Amino acid sequence: MTHPRLNYDKISGDYNQRYPSAFHWDRGDALLELARQLDAKSILETGSGTGYWLNLLNRVTSQLYGLDFSAGMISQAKSQPAPLKLTRGTATRLPFRSGSFDLLYCVDAVHHFGDHAAFVEEAFRVLKPGGALAVIGHDPHGDDFDWYFYDYFDTVYETDLRRYPSSNALEEMMKRSGFHDIERRNVEHVMSVHEGGQVFNDPFLKQNATSQLALLSRETYDAGIEKIKADLKKDSRKVFKSDFWVRMVLGMKPEHV
Ligand SMILES: C[S@@+](CC[C@H](N)C(=O)[O-])C[C@H]1O[C@@H](n2cnc3c(N)ncnc32)[C@H](O)[C@@H]1O
Repeated sequence: MTHPRLNYDKISGDYNQRYPSAFHWDRGDALLELARQLDAKSILETGSGTGYWLNLLNRVTSQLYGLDFSAGMISQAKSQPAPLKLTRGTATRLPFRSGSFDLLYCVDAVHHFGDHAAFVEEAFRVLKPGGALAVIGHDPHGDDFDWYFYDYFDTVYETDLRRYPSSNALEEMMKRSGFHDIERRNVEHVMSVHEGGQVFNDPFLKQNATSQLALLSRETYDAGIEKIKADLKKDSRKVFKSDFWVRMVLGMKPEHV
């Protein structure tokens, strides 16, 4: 399956703007709870980016491994307070020994991995018996999904449908790879409503803030912004909504394999 690739090296310097210090993330709580529940001693994040979530997990263990494709993102992750063991590589061919980790997770990254099934198989291999795989992110295939980006920016929705595995598809891949006790948890409700010109205060509307917009050409991005402005001319109090769930799809590697 071919899909457009975003060069994270280019945006790595700005990436942490999405994590303002005052903001509380429910998906972080869900990750912490899972790591505690598993009593995880060694944890790997694939697509670890700037290391924001790994740093949070330092409350549970110091054996924190991050793997990312982008040298720029890895270089940013080195500035996290927690000491992280960072490797450059690809999630579909993990450079780790079989049976190494108690928990392997990814956040907002699986849609970049291309061959999702190969990633799930690799995750199964590098987990210890009894370990867990958690894939966290949104599912644009769901019908409970309302994001104004999809209405205004051409090709974004179609591209997301191609890039993202649905939660059902992920569960199937986990089953096929040998995981059991597979479940789906809603871990964070993304809900923001911008009225009228306030929409331009949405930090995610900047072109480099999400891969959805960063993948667009300048012309397509500008055309979307113009469509928003045209609608605001017709209705200055128009509401722009982001309303969807971030899900965790979770699978356990059996104790005896
Ligand atoms: C949206 S960022 C998420 C970063 C981090 N998980 C977070 O939530 O802040 C996606 C990350 O996946 C990385 N990535 C993309 N393709 C990858 C691949 N095939 N293997 C490993 N990492 C990849 C990118 O370099 C980027 O750092």
